[in-house]
Amino acid sequence: MAKVLWNTHIDSNYYLIKVDQVDDVKPGQFYMLRAWDKYPILSRPISIYDADEEGLTFFYEVRGEGTQRIRDLEPGDELTCYGPYGNSFNAEGVDAVTLVGGSVGAAPFYYLAKVLRRNNPKCRIEFYLGERETQSLETAFSDLDVNLHVKKGGLITEDLTYDTKLLYTCGPDPMMRAVTLAALDAGCDVMISLDNRMGCGVGACLSCTCTTKSGNKRACVEGPVFEGGDVYGK
Ligand SMILES: Cc1cc2nc3c(=O)[nH]c(=O)nc-3n(C[C@H](O)[C@H](O)[C@H](O)COP(=O)(O)OP(=O)(O)OC[C@H]3O[C@@H](n4cnc5c(N)ncnc54)[C@H](O)[C@@H]3O)c2cc1C
Ligand code: FES
Repeated sequence: MAKVLWNTHIDSNYYLIKVDQVDDVKPGQFYMLRAWDKYPILSRPISIYDADEEGLTFFYEVRGEGTQRIRDLEPGDELTCYGPYGNSFNAEGVDAVTLVGGSVGAAPFYYLAKVLRRNNPKCRIEFYLGERETQSLETAFSDLDVNLHVKKGGLITEDLTYDTKLLYTCGPDPMMRAVTLAALDAGCDVMISLDNRMGCGVGACLSCTCTTKSGNKRACVEGPVFEGGDVYGK
């Protein structure tokens, strides 16, 4: 059981929470969070936003019962963090990459960008953040050593350039589909992170199963990171 260190409001329904659990984690992995005993029954999957020697940080949007309960936690309260689960984005041997995040879907890209920079000091990192016109989620990403492009409203595909030839995307399904198809047309390698509804997070319940060109896969074990063409390709 982890202890909450702080729980901060970022913008509208968006928050950052840090707990004192220290784990060896990879960018793109997630935890099943639980701040309650019996109800709601299921723990909630949330990506790693940041990890350091003091603990884990999560960037979350309050949507329903589970995330409301996490929002209400105060320093010293307990949060159970099962994980880390899932596969990860490759962050080694990368010299240029474009990250495309839609709203809170950009959560995994904070830690990913940090690890990319640590492993590849000269790496070119173009980070596109798409959000609604009223949102200011960029405050959660502004201290990264990347070229940050913020798109408020409209379609992020209007702004993207495809000259890095490697693209990672995470966010709403229609956005990831559009980004993947455009990037594949431009000859890029594309990796996506799916945020399917999850029951167990460990491969047992099959609730997160998705169809790929190479058969059905569990987003919690074989994913959440997949080749974009495998999921959205023609
Ligand atoms: C691998 C993974 C990583 C994720 N990372 C993050 C993250 O870093 N930050 C974050 O805020 N959210 C993340 N999510 C989504 C998050 O799990 C859901 O928003 C959360 O479970 C909602 O729980 P709730 O009890 O608040 O809402 P519920 O009462 O369960 O649902 C409220 C509303 O949210 C919708 N919803 C629930 N789960 C999802 C989902 N997985 N995708 C889309 N819509 C959903 C429901 O359809 C409903 O409309 C991630 C999901 C997955 C699978
Ligand atoms: S969430 Fe249960 S199998 Fe993936």
